[in-house]
Amino acid sequence: MRHLMSPLDFTVEELDQIMDLAGDIEKHREKYAHACEGKKLATLFYEPSTRTRLSFEAAMMNLGGNVLGFSSANSSSAAKGESVSDTIRMISCYADICAMRHPKEGAPMVACAKSSIPVINAGDGGHQHPTQTLTDLLTIRSLKGRLNNLTIGLCGDLKFGRTVHSLIRALVRYENVRFILISPEELRLPDYIRDDVLRRNNIEFKEVIRMDEALPELDLLYMTRVQKERFFNEEDYVRMKDFYILDKEKLKHAGPDMLILHPLPRVNEIAVEVDDDPRAVYFKQAQYGVYVRMALILTLLEVKVC
Ligand code: NCD
Repeated sequence: MRHLMSPLDFTVEELDQIMDLAGDIEKHREKYAHACEGKKLATLFYEPSTRTRLSFEAAMMNLGGNVLGFSSANSSSAAKGESVSDTIRMISCYADICAMRHPKEGAPMVACAKSSIPVINAGDGGHQHPTQTLTDLLTIRSLKGRLNNLTIGLCGDLKFGRTVHSLIRALVRYENVRFILISPEELRLPDYIRDDVLRRNNIEFKEVIRMDEALPELDLLYMTRVQKERFFNEEDYVRMKDFYILDKEKLKHAGPDMLILHPLPRVNEIAVEVDDDPRAVYFKQAQYGVYVRMALILTLLEVKVC
């Protein structure tokens, strides 16, 4: 039995297979409509979510399966003090696979140890978000046609943004990928990623504060929201929250093929006027998230569709 805690739990070849499967699902939806009949997905969300939880649920429904779960710690027995370990032992009797989001780093890992069903990390604190990474990789591969030879700008809250942490880990395995890390001083990428992932793998990168300086060089701009819920005080958040706002004026610095991605939710960091720009692909990205989660569920449940 396999779990998904980090994008590195799959080899590059396995990721390719999952993306190929997602591509086939996109083209032949009806072929997969009954693939998970009789199976259940539990969504255990101790932290707010719209896209991730609903796209998991939509994915399982598209496969003909059923879903159950909770969408906040308050509406589960966690509010009564139940541990993650006890919850997962019980859920293992009710469902065939589960997706867990938790504010504490490592909580889904604790769940794996006691689970008799596959556990998917749907975001653990400021640590990792592997299924967003699968979504991002599929989006880039589908719309750019490659995952190598790319200059990628990661912009915003690189300190607390778990989507960025997982995406960097995944992308360093492809050839000739360079990063431009765009953030205010206070929200720079944590050392354990800069040193242990980028430097250790000899990946070319630079850190800059101004977004417009970086834009002309980029094949891809990955915008992120300032992660309000991970700040220790409101004052710091208020100071940081509008540090970057991508608008039409700023986009004049970017090339005609530069894709704009965002895991969403967006707050202020991308002006609504940018949505109509053909380079803005963040809503398409959310759609790819359903296909890739369908492919992931099939893979972890070892369901083959001929
Ligand atoms: C991201 C997350 O939860 O980390 N959202 C998502 O899953 N699409 C990004 C965010 O909340 O900023």
